Amino acid sequence: MDLYLKGKTAIVSGASQGFGRAITKELAIEGVKVFATARNEELLNSLKTEIAAAGGVEPVLFGYDFVAPDAPQKIAAAALSALGHVDILVNNAGRSRPMDVIGDEEGWTASMTLDFNRHRQLTQQLLPQFMERRSGVILNITSTYELRMLNASAVAKAAVAAWSKGLAGQLGQYGIRVNCLQPGLIDTENIRPYFPGEERKKFAEQEIPLGDFGAPQDIANMVAFLVSPRAQYVTGAVVVVDGGMRRYAF
Ligand SMILES: NC(=O)c1ccc[n+]([C@@H]2O[C@H](COP(=O)([O-])OP(=O)(O)OC[C@H]3O[C@@H](n4cnc5c(N)ncnc54)[C@H](OP(=O)(O)O)[C@@H]3O)[C@@H](O)[C@H]2O)c1
Repeated sequence: MDLYLKGKTAIVSGASQGFGRAITKELAIEGVKVFATARNEELLNSLKTEIAAAGGVEPVLFGYDFVAPDAPQKIAAAALSALGHVDILVNNAGRSRPMDVIGDEEGWTASMTLDFNRHRQLTQQLLPQFMERRSGVILNITSTYELRMLNASAVAKAAVAAWSKGLAGQLGQYGIRVNCLQPGLIDTENIRPYFPGEERKKFAEQEIPLGDFGAPQDIANMVAFLVSPRAQYVTGAVVVVDGGMRRYAF
């Protein structure tokens, strides 16, 4: 199926590893010029080599700390200057942060900054050009937030989901689509430490109907569809990719 992505431009944050890396590569192979940003420039460079070997469009790399106060302005300006315009924004950078019931203030603030506020601020930097062009696609990577333990990142992601829904409602009139992709447990550095040894297998057998954690490519496949013109009637949605893990009590 042609996704009609050829010639489009995109920003992907958190592009050095995990989901962001797989998303960047998948979009590049589909013909998208991606502005790929994260801190680890060595990993970004190896991604560029990987994309070239796969015959994808060469990405623009931008090493920057997303939590730096000027990151949204710097990233938006550099992306617009390198790409000319931005068609697609994938808000992906983030990190799991389990918390005690009385968690430290620093941890809460750090999660709200990285997992919510910087994405909101980067999006806001790009909204004028999306609105002026009367087109644009914003895809927010969230997380499972109906957890039975506290994770500051999950709380920030719940804020992303509420913000995203409101944005979708107000931006439809400009031809701008805004969605969330809610992953279950996907095998990346972000969550590996929480499931050492046999823990992953044990958990997956009990809780995931498809029997194992997903792979970053499972996320990239859904992202490619959701940001493509094929998903032109999808907005304000939360699309779950979790092997069936999410459930209520029964
Ligand atoms: N894996 C899962 O099962 C899962 C579940 C729920 C939600 N998620 C969400 O999915 C997204 C991707 O997660 P992942 O599993 O792919 O994680 P990952 O493998 O740890 O990758 C996280 C990415 O975010 C970037 N990042 C983190 N802090 C940053 C900072 N201060 N400045 C710039 N970039 C930063 C990292 O780049 P650098 O280190 O190079 O800066 C990296 O590219 C996150 O938002 C995460 O919360 C993942």
